Amino acid sequence: MRRLLVIGIGVGNPAHLTVEAIEALNEADVFFLPDKGSEKAGLRQLRLDICERYIRETGHRFVNVGMPKRAKTESYLADVDDWHQAIAEGYERLFLDELREGEVGALLVWGDPSLYDSTLRILGRLGERGVDLDYRVIPGISSVQVLTARHGIALNGIGEPVLLTTGRRLSVDDGRAFASIVVLLDGELAFRRLEGEDLDIYWGAYLGTADEVLVSGRLADVADEIEALRARLREAKGWIMDSYLLRRREPAR
Ligand SMILES: C[S@@+](CC[C@H](N)C(=O)[O-])C[C@H]1O[C@@H](n2cnc3c(N)ncnc32)[C@H](O)[C@@H]1O
Repeated sequence: MRRLLVIGIGVGNPAHLTVEAIEALNEADVFFLPDKGSEKAGLRQLRLDICERYIRETGHRFVNVGMPKRAKTESYLADVDDWHQAIAEGYERLFLDELREGEVGALLVWGDPSLYDSTLRILGRLGERGVDLDYRVIPGISSVQVLTARHGIALNGIGEPVLLTTGRRLSVDDGRAFASIVVLLDGELAFRRLEGEDLDIYWGAYLGTADEVLVSGRLADVADEIEALRARLREAKGWIMDSYLLRRREPAR
């Protein structure tokens, strides 16, 4: 039986690790670090910095995990399925080769492992493939929590539901059905689709990091500003991670 810790590390601020996560870091012998190419090199460095900051003993080691690229055909779900399969096969080889009997491996997952992250689904595939793996999940602070904290707002209205969705899926109907919508993974300025609705937007990029940027206001008033800022930041840094909450404006009382 191989043991693995799936550790949520927050979204950029090492101070957001929980005590449980720090204890888990100190339990691990082998850290499997994804290698996603140069634009994500800063994110890899952050993982290394977290280890350096919190691990008390030496003796652990790092193993690079080459990440296959997802094909982009018309069938998104089929592409994701093939991609996950390729990652699962890579993990299987690595875990068998790199984890010795009695050792504990660790995956450092961005934010919280349950939120728009496929690590747990991929580990599930390993189980289906007959890999004898015992894994434990340590929750992390997600981008959603940092977003609402930084803007000083509650996630939900009183007793109301919240829709958590992606830029790809966001629709005008969502804006009418939900008073609060959180959007992640939006590479296409999906909030533009809802500009005709009376909404506030609470937007944040590089949340938790030194480069954190926040904008909030009535969607129709700040949409242009966010679009221009997003393009500028992306150009300057080479990549961007942003999320936002859309909230229906209360009718005047
Ligand atoms: C693959 S999902 C991972 C979410 C992560 N598991 C979490 O708990 O936040 C990546 C998306 O999360 C959001 N995100 C992650 N880190 C962020 C950050 N530091 N600032 C703003 N948004 C972030 C962005 O919407 C990004 O496209």
